[in-house]
Amino acid sequence: MLRVLVMVSGGGTNLQAIIDRVADGTITNTELVGVISNNHGVFALERAEKAGIPHEVVSAKDFDSRETFNETLLARVDSYKPDLIVLAGFLVVIPKAMIEKYECRIINIHPSLIPSFCGTGYYGLKVHEAALARGVKVSGATVHYVDAGTDTGPIILQKAVEVLPDDTPKTLQQRIMEQAEWKLLPQAINLIANERK
Ligand code: GAR
Repeated sequence: MLRVLVMVSGGGTNLQAIIDRVADGTITNTELVGVISNNHGVFALERAEKAGIPHEVVSAKDFDSRETFNETLLARVDSYKPDLIVLAGFLVVIPKAMIEKYECRIINIHPSLIPSFCGTGYYGLKVHEAALARGVKVSGATVHYVDAGTDTGPIILQKAVEVLPDDTPKTLQQRIMEQAEWKLLPQAINLIANERK
């Protein structure tokens, strides 16, 4: 069984997609061992609670320095003994020590077709605002391994989604989630879980 730790910052719709696909057997050989949020009071934590998954908050706001936050985050991650860490809308720069320790064992979902609209400053709705401002006719989502750069690691899966003429950042975000993200992330986890049987 692949021990999967999911890291979140907000609503957790990608977390929900993973929970649902484990529950219905689409994702196999996988145990969701924990959820870590960097924000207090987000809906993702309720989703974890409802699914009976251990969950906790590690927020930078609760620490005096970034170093202490980074050290605590890594210690809490280690405590779950994860085989795979899934960044499902986790909008925090991953500490260098964590990237080194979990090389090739951290994956991220990004709401565009990398290398478009990615890197520093491109997260959440900002990605879709930039895509619409540029006038692209196709966007999508990417699942990739996390390396030392921002959104630069090896690509695992991508899916294209049409941009419609009357799209707003919110409608585009919703379509990309429905048509790409909620499918790709479970699919990537299942691939990894079953390669290491
Ligand atoms: C998702 O669209 C995810 O792709 C994005 O944040 C959203 C989280 O939604 N991640 C990034 O922008 C990472 N750079 P969710 O909490 O409902 O899963």
